[in-house]
Formats: sequence, C-alpha cells, structure tokens
Amino acid sequence: MITRWSITAAFCAALLPLACNQSKPKISVVTTEEVPAPKKSDDSSQKIDVIDGNAVELARATVEPKCPVYGPLQPNEFSAKTAAGDILNASRHVYSGFDGKHVYKVPTAVAYILADETATAPNLVTTPPTFVIEDPTVVSAVYVPTPTDLVALPKNWAVRYLMVTAKKAGTTKITYTYNGLTIYSTIHIVSYTPTQYEMGKKRYQTPEQATTTDRYPCGSCHNNPDGLKEGATDHDARIQGTKSDDALKLMTAWGKECNPDGQGGISKTVGYHLWHLTQEELDGMPAYIRSLPAQGF
Ligand code: HEC
Repeated sequence: MITRWSITAAFCAALLPLACNQSKPKISVVTTEEVPAPKKSDDSSQKIDVIDGNAVELARATVEPKCPVYGPLQPNEFSAKTAAGDILNASRHVYSGFDGKHVYKVPTAVAYILADETATAPNLVTTPPTFVIEDPTVVSAVYVPTPTDLVALPKNWAVRYLMVTAKKAGTTKITYTYNGLTIYSTIHIVSYTPTQYEMGKKRYQTPEQATTTDRYPCGSCHNNPDGLKEGATDHDARIQGTKSDDALKLMTAWGKECNPDGQGGISKTVGYHLWHLTQEELDGMPAYIRSLPAQGF
C-alpha cells in the first residue's frame, strides 16, 4: 500500500512554493512494522568489513554539497499575476538527467489559481496554457492526464502536468502563456554516466555491507511496496524533479534539507538520515533516483 502526501502538501513542497506560502508537507507516518532506529555510528567516516574473505574499506563521502542558490527572480520566472490577483504558476527549476542509456522523464505542473476562492478555476484540460521549449534538442514535452489521486484540488485551482523527456544533457526553458500571462520554468538535464546509474542503483537496492546500520538499502524505506516505512516518501520524478542533485545528496548523507533561500538545516523529520555512501555511490544516487518513473502517470 502506497501512501502519498495530500495534494496540497505535495504541491506546496514540490511544485508551487509561492502559491502555497512555502509551507512544509505534513508527513504521515505509516509504519507497518518496527524499523530499527538507524543511528550514526561512532566513527562513520570509514567502514571496514569482510567481503568474500577480503577486508574491504569503504570510505564515506566527505564532500558535503551546498544548497543551491538561485539568485534573484528574473522577470516572468515561474509565477505571474493578473491585476485581479489570479496566478499562473509553475516550478521555478525542474531537474532530470541523461546518461544515454536509461529513460529519464519528469512531470512538471503548471497551475492557474483564481484569487476568488469561491470561483471555479478555468478548465485547463480543454484549454491548457500554450508552451514553448526554448531548445527542443534538450527535451521534448507533452501534456499528460493528471493522475486520479492528484486531482482533489480546491475549486479555484486548476493544474495540468507536462511530461518532459530528456533528450540530451543541458539547460533550457519551458515558457507558458495563459490568459495574457507569461512565465517560464528552467529545465536542468544533468549529465550522468551509465556507471553512475549502476552505482546508485546498487547502493539503493543491494548495497555492500547492507546489514551495517548506516548502510541500509534506501529501498528498505523508500519505494517499498510493503508500505513506506518511517513515513519515507516515494522517490519518483514528480517529487525529486524539483530538487537539485546537491539537495538530494545533502539529504541522503547529511540529513539536511534546503529551504528556498538556499539554507540547509538538519531535517526535523529524519534527524538520523546520515547514510553511509562512498563518494561514487553518492554521486551516482541522483542518476538512479531521477530514473524512477513518476507514479500515477
Ligand atoms: C530507515 C528508513 C530510511 C532509509 C533506509 C532511507 N531513508 Fe531517505 N528518508 C526517510 C524518511 C522518513 C524521509 C523523510 C520523509 C521524506 O521526505 O521522504 C527521507 C527522505 C529522503 C529524501 C528527501 C525526500 C524527497 O522528497 O526528496 C531523500 C532524497 C532520501 N531520503 C534519499 C535516501 C537515500 C538515497 C537513501 C539510501 C542511501 C535513503 N534515503 C535511505 C527514511 C529513510
């Protein structure tokens, strides 16, 4: 059984931080069985273990990434308002990857929110915002149906999802126009290698020294079909598609979340999230996480 954030929480967290007042999602804990409380070991800088009779030393990643700093907003970037206060909104930054081998797709939302909460939002299914991809050699994009478990929006909100497919590494923009308003999202397609993908996948699913507390498989909590342990959300492109690689790595190995001002702080929800990964595993992790398909699309 897979539980997701409520629509509002998911949007506030991932897609529409401006419209949602940057509130943090409330995470419901769905624990179906006791998870041993993972603890950072006394000396987690190095692990020495025996694999196939050989002593193997795995050096923990020590280069702590910094939260992304995006700088001041540019005109037309991600949000615009009519004189009446109606808002056209999209994600400011959208991330996916490209390794020449695996499929990388990321859904991204564009929303129209009426200032009048009692009014009914326009039907974006019949008349979606028009969009233009600045460099169509980097990505392609097509509107897709909104998953049924994501449609319970307030009546003054309308949303459409665009499925973006990476074609090569690079940066581009998707510009939306609706009702006289124009905004854009910046799309980052990060360059990975298939080797990085494999490193990330192995650490995620079947790592070496998996029984050492801080080397648990990520998949024992995340994307776990038996129920999401400890309230860990799914990893899928809809959720992680708004986070930079550095933000993903910072959370993975240092338990720190980035706020919109580019400041990182220890996550209150998961203070223990200090997993041991080698530098190569950590660098490969976003390559794998970004390949996980967005659920429901
Ligand atoms: C013991 C359970 C557990 C394990 C194992 C675990 N996590 Fe998490 N993780 C959580 C919880 C709980 C959260 C906070 C809720 C959330 O946002 O998912 C979290 C949050 C995250 C986030 C931020 C969530 C987001 O929406 O982007 C990332 C990224 C992440 N974990 C990556 C990893 C990776 C990579 C591994 C393996 C190296 C891992 N986690 C192992 C429980 C776990």
